[in-house]
Amino acid sequence: MNKKNVIAIDGPAGSGKSTVAKQVARNINWDYIDTGAMYRCLCLKALRRGVDIDSPDELVKILENTEMRMTFEDGQLRVYMDGEDVSEDIRDNRVSKKVSRVAALGPVRRHLVKKQREMGEKGKVVMDGRDIGTVVFPDARYKFYLDASLDIRAKRRYNELIERKNKKIDLKSVVKEIRKRDETDRGRADGPLKAAADAIYIDTSEYNVGEVVELLLEEIDEN
Ligand code: CDP
Repeated sequence: MNKKNVIAIDGPAGSGKSTVAKQVARNINWDYIDTGAMYRCLCLKALRRGVDIDSPDELVKILENTEMRMTFEDGQLRVYMDGEDVSEDIRDNRVSKKVSRVAALGPVRRHLVKKQREMGEKGKVVMDGRDIGTVVFPDARYKFYLDASLDIRAKRRYNELIERKNKKIDLKSVVKEIRKRDETDRGRADGPLKAAADAIYIDTSEYNVGEVVELLLEEIDEN
């Protein structure tokens, strides 16, 4: 089988996927696509408009009229929705709490998966998410599944939020939010969070970012 020139990196919240994926992409000079940001954009727009976030019809209507774009500026990923920089807003706690509900809906997933396939079509792309190796690009040349214990993932996310000067946050509520999101992501019928049978599974609990990046780069031949 002719495999697609895509590196799929999946895993639960706080497993370090996006940090690792960005660094791998930079290292081999491939594009990086954060698929979680797309679900987050949709959730943000629905919340702002007061749209029922459990209504697939309403959400698909929004998707059909939303432009999403990702670029790197000074080495930082910026996410634009309809021309507005929403990089910070999509990471807001309100969005984190609701995004998995939006992402569990079949019509929403079909719409975004189609977009993601188009974005990866030209190849040389590192894509991270929950279902990249299983659904979006089952024929990806490389597949990784990053994992870590719930406590460690929550601690990482907590530190990240503190760094972003989110002083209101407490560790207990981060543990709760991540556990709930994992349950919804693992339990949905359509594109559930799981490792593809042919993915390389890495428990990152004992590793720092640089070490995980090295582990991936050892497997990858970018040519
Ligand atoms: O960065 P973090 O791990 O917190 O999450 P994210 O990658 O930004 O994804 C946010 C949410 O979007 C996830 O909890 C999933 O519900 C959903 N998602 C998905 O369903 N499929 C993907 N390929 C990516 C994200």
